[in-house]
Formats: sequence, structure tokens, C-alpha cells
Amino acid sequence: MPHELLYLNTDKCVIRPWKKGDEPSLVRHADNRNVWMGVRDTFPNPYTVSDANAWVNVATRALRNEVWAIDVSGFAVGGISLHPDEGVHRYNAEIGYWLGQEHWGQGIATEAVHALTRYAFEAQGLVRVYAAVFEWNQASIRVLEKCGYALEGTLRMSAFKAGRFVDQQMYAAVEAAPAQRT
Ligand SMILES: CC(C)(COP(=O)(O)OP(=O)(O)OC[C@H]1O[C@@H](n2cnc3c(N)ncnc32)[C@H](O)[C@@H]1OP(=O)(O)O)[C@@H](O)C(=O)NCCC(=O)NCCS
Repeated sequence: MPHELLYLNTDKCVIRPWKKGDEPSLVRHADNRNVWMGVRDTFPNPYTVSDANAWVNVATRALRNEVWAIDVSGFAVGGISLHPDEGVHRYNAEIGYWLGQEHWGQGIATEAVHALTRYAFEAQGLVRVYAAVFEWNQASIRVLEKCGYALEGTLRMSAFKAGRFVDQQMYAAVEAAPAQRT
């Protein structure tokens, strides 16, 4: 696979494969309800050492071509993913990301999302990258806007999170002039 050993350097972080040894930093940053509020329920809360072990196991094997750590100063302080779709949707991928709260507000997610989106278009040949954001997640919406994603619509009542139904905002970036595909 083209991105099996993906390393993307930005000014503020490195997107790199997860590895054994990331578990303590992962627990430190992921065990946070404020992080959990922005992501799907498959992301554990509380986030235990056992959860971190299981994640690193799957992230270094089955998902190694789709999920990466956001590394700051040698530590995995967040995660970012690109899950490709299938069939007629095969030039689409869903991007996901989270960052430990102590690193919020420094532009790190913006750089990571920007770098991985460019990679999706330029190295993977994808044509559309999208994210569905809970309506309350203005920070994530801002990240996507700064990275050139456009609002496509509101998926009304499409998620049930933290005990209530929530609208999701569908954002996408599309390659302006895709080459011929088969
Ligand atoms: C969303 C998240 C990744 C953002 O990471 P980050 O590194 O802090 O993001 P950045 O610093 O690159 O950009 C954040 C932007 O949102 C803005 N922002 C932050 N909180 C905001 C709020 N409550 N309302 C409006 N804007 C807000 C910041 O001012 C900044 O915009 P600016 O550069 O125009 O000032 C981080 O908050 C996070 O991990 N949240 C939990 C998980 C999550 O929600 N993941 C996304 C799922 S779709």
C-alpha cells in the first residue's frame, strides 16, 4: 500500500504510524470526556491502558494503512485517520482526528488535517474527503474551514451522542480538477 509507512512533517507536528510504546501517552491524552464529546462512541471513555493496548494492536495491524498518530515532540498526542469508501464511492474517504486537550488552540489539528487532505488527493488519488461534525463542535468546523472544506449540508438528527440526538454538519474537500480515473 502506498501509505503503509506514512510520515508527514508539518511545522507543528508529525503524522506517523502508531507504534508499541505509544500507549502511556495515548491514555494520557485520550482519557478525556471533552475529547470524547467530539468523536464517535467507538472511542472509549474512560480510556484505559487496556483500551490503548487494543488500539495500538489494531492500529499497527489491520488499520495500519488508515490510522496514524499525531506526534508532537516525540509523543503521540492525538490521532488522525483516512477511511476509504468502496464501490461507486471509492474515490471518497472520511477523515477523522482528535488531539489531547492540552494541545488545543495552537493550530496543530489544522496543520495535520491540511497535510493529510493534500496527501489524500496527491498520493492516494482520492477526489473527495469528508467529515461529519457534531453541531456543537465549532473548533472542528473551524479546522475544516481553514483547510478548505465546504459545508455541504446538515444531516439532521443523524447521531445520538451523550444522551441526545444531534445534527451533524457534512463538510467536504474536493479535488478541483481530477485526472481521468478508471
Ligand atoms: C477539534 C480539534 C481537533 C481542534 O484541534 P486544535 O488543534 O485545537 O485546532 P486548531 O488550533 O488547528 O484550530 C481550532 C480553531 O477553532 C477555533 N475554536 C476553538 N474553539 C472554538 C469555539 N468554541 N467556537 C468557535 N471557534 C472555536 C479556534 O479559535 C481555531 O480557529 P482560528 O485559528 O480561526 O482561531 C480538538 O478540539 C479536538 O481534538 N476535539 C475533540 C475531538 C474532535 O472533536 N475531533 C473532531 C471530530 S469531527
